[in-house]
Amino acid sequence: MEFRDLKRQYQVLKADLDKAMLDIAASGGYIMGGAVTELEEQLAEYVGVKHCMTCANGTDALTLALKTLGIGKGDAVYVPDFTFFASAEVVAAEGATPVFVDVDPQTFNIDTTSLREAIHNVEKEGRLKQKAIIAVDLFGLPADFASIKSIAAHHGLYVIEDGAQGFGGCIGNKRACSFGDIGTTSFFPAKPLGCYGDGGAVFTNNDEWADLIRSLRVHGKGSCKYDNIRIGLNSRLDTIQAAILKVKFEAFKKNELALVNIVAEHYTKQINDNINKDYAIKAETPHIPEGFLSSWAQYTIRLNTLTSSNGISREELQSRLKASGIPTMVYYPTPMSRQTAFKGLHPYVNTTNAAHLSQCVLSLPMHPYMTDTEIQTVIETLAEHLK
Ligand SMILES: Cc1ncc(COP(=O)(O)O)c(C=O)c1O
Repeated sequence: MEFRDLKRQYQVLKADLDKAMLDIAASGGYIMGGAVTELEEQLAEYVGVKHCMTCANGTDALTLALKTLGIGKGDAVYVPDFTFFASAEVVAAEGATPVFVDVDPQTFNIDTTSLREAIHNVEKEGRLKQKAIIAVDLFGLPADFASIKSIAAHHGLYVIEDGAQGFGGCIGNKRACSFGDIGTTSFFPAKPLGCYGDGGAVFTNNDEWADLIRSLRVHGKGSCKYDNIRIGLNSRLDTIQAAILKVKFEAFKKNELALVNIVAEHYTKQINDNINKDYAIKAETPHIPEGFLSSWAQYTIRLNTLTSSNGISREELQSRLKASGIPTMVYYPTPMSRQTAFKGLHPYVNTTNAAHLSQCVLSLPMHPYMTDTEIQTVIETLAEHLK
C-alpha cells in the first residue's frame, strides 16, 4: 500500500496526462506558455478571487506574499507552532521575526486565544512592529478565518492564508486560498492538487499586489523581462507542470475531492466503531467543524493514550504497521519553536498543544483512489496493534 498513491492516479489519468505532456514537449513553449495563463484563470475562478499567479513552489508563493506586503526586518509575523517549516522559514528569510502561536488540539490549526495572547505580549513588549498572521490550513482543513480576520482587523494586521495543504477546502461556500488578503498554495506532488515536480500559486483580489507579484516572480521585471525595476525572484511554474495541473484539476473537481472525503468518512466511522468504543487506547479522529470541508492533505489521528507504559510507543506502532505493509507518517515531530533553526527566538506564548501533538499524531494512508479493502486493512491492522 502507498501512503499517497500517485502512480495509481497516473494510471487513471494516463491518456490525458501523456497527451498534455507530449503536447508541451512538441510546442517548444516551455516557459510561461499558454497553459500557465489558462491554468491561472481556471484556478482563480475556482477559488473565487480575481487573480492567481503561479510560481515555482509553495515556499516561493509565501515569499512573494511577504515581499508584496513589504514585510522585513523588525516586523513580527504570527505563525502556528505546528506546521511545515516553510510557513515560518519564509518569515525569517525576509529578515522578519516569526512569533509562534499555539494551535487548537482538535483542528490542528492556529488557536485564536493563543493568537490574541501573542499579539498582546508583542504589543506590550513594543520591540517588534506586528504586520501579519500566516494562518495555515493544516492537513487540508481551513483555519478559523472568521475569528482570525476579526482579530487581524482589530490590530491592523494582514492575513496570509498558507493553503499549501488546503487547496479545495471550504468554509460554507467559500474556497480555501480566498480567505486571506493573500492566499498561497503548493502543487508539490503529494498535495491535494499536485503536479509532477514543484509548483505553487498566489491568490489575491488586489490588482496592485497582483501586478507586483507578476513582476517579483520574474526578477522584478518592469515593462519587459530586461527592464528590471526591483529585486525579485526567478519563480515561474513550468508550462509542462501547468499542463499536468490542468488535467489533474479536472479530476480534482470531478471526483477526487469528493473521493478523499469519502475515504475520510470511512476511516472516522470505522475507527470510532472498531477501536474507540472498545479499547483503552483511543485513536482520536480528526475534527471537522460544522460548515467546513477538508481537502484531506492528511488524515491524522491522535494517539493521546498511547504511551510506552501501554507496551507500545508510536514508533513501535509505526514499525508494526510498516511490517504489515501500511505506511504511516508523523506530521510533525517537532514544533517550529523547537526547531534548531529557530533556537534563540523569544517565545511570546506557551505552545503546549503543539508540543503535545508532535508527540501523539499519526497520519494514515490517504488519497482519492484508496479502495474499501485498503481502508479496511488499515483499520483492522491498527485495531490489532492497539488492542
Ligand atoms: C503548510 C505548508 N506551507 C508551505 C509549504 C511549502 O510548499 P513547497 O514544498 O511547494 O515549497 C508546504 C509544503 O509542504 C506546507 O505543507
